[in-house]
Amino acid sequence: MCTQGPIGVAAALSSSTPIRTALSQFLLVNRVAVVTGGHRGLGLEMALALAEVGAIVYCLSQSTSPNEDWLKVQSFAERLPSLEEGGRGRLEYVKADVANQEELEKVVQGIVDKEGRIDICVANAGILRVRESLDCPRDDFHQVLATNLNGVMFTVQAVGRQMEHLGIPGSIIVISSIAGHVALRCTPCVAYGASKGAILQMTRSLACELAPKGIRVNSISPGFFETKMIRDYADEKPEYEAQWAGQKPLGRIGRADEIRGVILWLAGDASTFCTGSDVLVDGGYCAW
Ligand SMILES: NC(=O)c1ccc[n+]([C@@H]2O[C@H](COP(=O)([O-])OP(=O)(O)OC[C@H]3O[C@@H](n4cnc5c(N)ncnc54)[C@H](OP(=O)(O)O)[C@@H]3O)[C@@H](O)[C@H]2O)c1
Repeated sequence: MCTQGPIGVAAALSSSTPIRTALSQFLLVNRVAVVTGGHRGLGLEMALALAEVGAIVYCLSQSTSPNEDWLKVQSFAERLPSLEEGGRGRLEYVKADVANQEELEKVVQGIVDKEGRIDICVANAGILRVRESLDCPRDDFHQVLATNLNGVMFTVQAVGRQMEHLGIPGSIIVISSIAGHVALRCTPCVAYGASKGAILQMTRSLACELAPKGIRVNSISPGFFETKMIRDYADEKPEYEAQWAGQKPLGRIGRADEIRGVILWLAGDASTFCTGSDVLVDGGYCAW
């Protein structure tokens, strides 16, 4: 192909528009984020990572008020040094049940009324029920789908509508699971797997529909991280832990902080050409 002049970074260097350095593409100063299930576990870890690079992060969760651990993390975020042009992130907590569409919409509207914008949405709230398929109680099946599937849809709708209305080229990140890609060995969880597979497909549909509005939608599929979600089952059935670790090429369970890199990449300007993608963060579980 014949070119008329410099392309790529050479073109950027010859133009008058300031180029963004690699590190600055990860800054989220003055951006507003919502993280559902941001009360603990992966949600809180991702919320803090976003706040550390300057975002104002609203942690939405089902508990009426935040617990001591969450307040400690909030106070840590308050003490972080300020970033470029004095920008500083922070964490806020708001009660919202993702399965309750009305409540969620009111909460998101309240955030927009207060902050004037919304740039990032992490649809993370989820529950796991380990049950043999043929014995899975109907209520368990419904509850898992209500939280993990309906809850993600309601979250994306509530935030996506605001992004569209405000003309913001936002980034929406859906938290799926390796269980949405493959059946988990030795861990029967039919409702969970169905919900996580469904939201992978939802991500692709939403990405295509929302792209013309400038809104990106991607998903992350974690696999066995040390959080309350899996700790409860490992404590109940100690053999689970060794099985989960042994089923991964990396041979261990993930630490919650190992989700940070991918959320920072997907939330901000380092991933502006990425939509409809899924990123596995699973210690290699799905590679075998
Ligand atoms: N840990 C893993 O190995 C792993 C692997 C794959 C995928 N994931 C996914 O990652 C996400 C986070 O998991 P985690 O391990 O951090 O779980 P976790 O420690 O159990 O935390 C789940 C969070 O979701 C909140 N939540 C649950 N139901 C809710 C509802 N109806 N409305 C609002 N919030 C609700 C909980 O709220 P409260 O604290 O207020 O009760 C909690 O803060 C989930 O979607 C999970 O499926 C996790």
